[in-house]
Amino acid sequence: MHALKNKRILLGVTGGIAAYKSAILARRLIDAGATVRVVMSAGAQAFIQPLTFQALTGNPVHTDLLDPAAEAAMGHIELARWADCILIAPASANTLARLAHGFADDLLSTLCLASDAPLFVAPAMNRLMWQNPATVHNCEVLASRGVGFIGPGDGAQACGETGSGRLLEPEDIRDSLIARLQQTDAGDRATPDTRLLLNGQKLLITAGPTREAIDPVRFISNHSSGKMGFAIAEAAVAMGASVTLVAGPVNLQADPAIRRIDVVSADEMLSAVMDNVSGSTVFISVAAVSDYRLEQVMDQKIKKSQDQMQLSLVRNPDILKSVSTLEKRPFCVGFAAETENVEAHARAKLQHKQLDMIAANHVAQPGNPVFGSDTNALDVYWPADNGHESIPSGSKQQVAQALLLVLARQLAASDPSDTDASGKH
Ligand code: PMT
Repeated sequence: MHALKNKRILLGVTGGIAAYKSAILARRLIDAGATVRVVMSAGAQAFIQPLTFQALTGNPVHTDLLDPAAEAAMGHIELARWADCILIAPASANTLARLAHGFADDLLSTLCLASDAPLFVAPAMNRLMWQNPATVHNCEVLASRGVGFIGPGDGAQACGETGSGRLLEPEDIRDSLIARLQQTDAGDRATPDTRLLLNGQKLLITAGPTREAIDPVRFISNHSSGKMGFAIAEAAVAMGASVTLVAGPVNLQADPAIRRIDVVSADEMLSAVMDNVSGSTVFISVAAVSDYRLEQVMDQKIKKSQDQMQLSLVRNPDILKSVSTLEKRPFCVGFAAETENVEAHARAKLQHKQLDMIAANHVAQPGNPVFGSDTNALDVYWPADNGHESIPSGSKQQVAQALLLVLARQLAASDPSDTDASGKH
């Protein structure tokens, strides 16, 4: 895997016990083809030696802003220009605060000010520091300027507490960085304007097909690849949402910032959705759920003894309707795969399934079956004033972003108390 081939990554390491993981991260970035130069803060050097990074990267480590010898070799402006991207991991609360306020009193903060390369931060700190309103505010400021956040993760912390604030694992940071850089290269990344659009929203999304077993080796399914649902999940994370993705059997990697639950059948998808719907503010049902399953799954492989065979099928539960009819329900968005009379069929589903919004795709267009393809186009409908917006053909990533912009506006319209005119929450 050389997904970072020819990428020059400036790895900033700041103070914290998680700094030891940055050594592994440097190695993983190099394994993926990147050239890595490391800048360490004074705090980081209390936890790990510059020599470790020098040995791993084969490049001198940069630590001082005003060191004449280092400046003579590669000055800080030159270093800032050299970077294709800056990744700070771990990013301490202090570092986030200093970046938010534009400090330039050490090498790393100066480089960040003097570079126009994309900046990514992988925060790591105690859970209360992460939740502190000062840190939350600093993160919002940075996100609004286009800084990409990778994590943090949840779990046991070095301080003995449990919660959000753990540095993600080096492999997860690498994979997330690769995904974000690919989005940047393709022009699909959230812009500074949209980066906080879904901040504070908790999205539950289904994607992909379901498989209904016939016997131990056969099943009923469909051609959904999961690409549309995964693109929406990734665009939502880039807009600041926290996302749980319930995925049917697909061959896709998800951004590590997404909480992913893999399922196979419609029944399993229903259980995973119902187990996770509480606390969700938005449910987006992108999955192509098999409408029927076998009345009785065979224990043994069916033999080819007859010329004709009949299978008895029963209806699967309607997962979307199970959510939309909950007493305390999230904002519900359905999808409709239609071959004809798109608006009429989509609006009928909008009403019948009691939805807040539905996104219809035309799945019988010549040359684009939508199922499995990399592109899509949507017509989005909502009940108030027979609302409608068309999203033109584009990559599923572009369509996902456009759909989330419509969603943000509809969320704002459904709860005018917490928004401004641009739809920001
Ligand atoms: O995965 P890709 O290859 O990227 O393709 C994307 C897609 C075509 C699968 C996607 O864009 C899409 O249209 N998904 C919905 C497909 C579908 O099953 O539509 P439907 O009209 O049968 O269902 C209407 C809605 O009810 C959907 O939101 C569906 O998720 C939901 N549903 C349907 C049946 C069921 N038993 N439970 C459900 O929740």
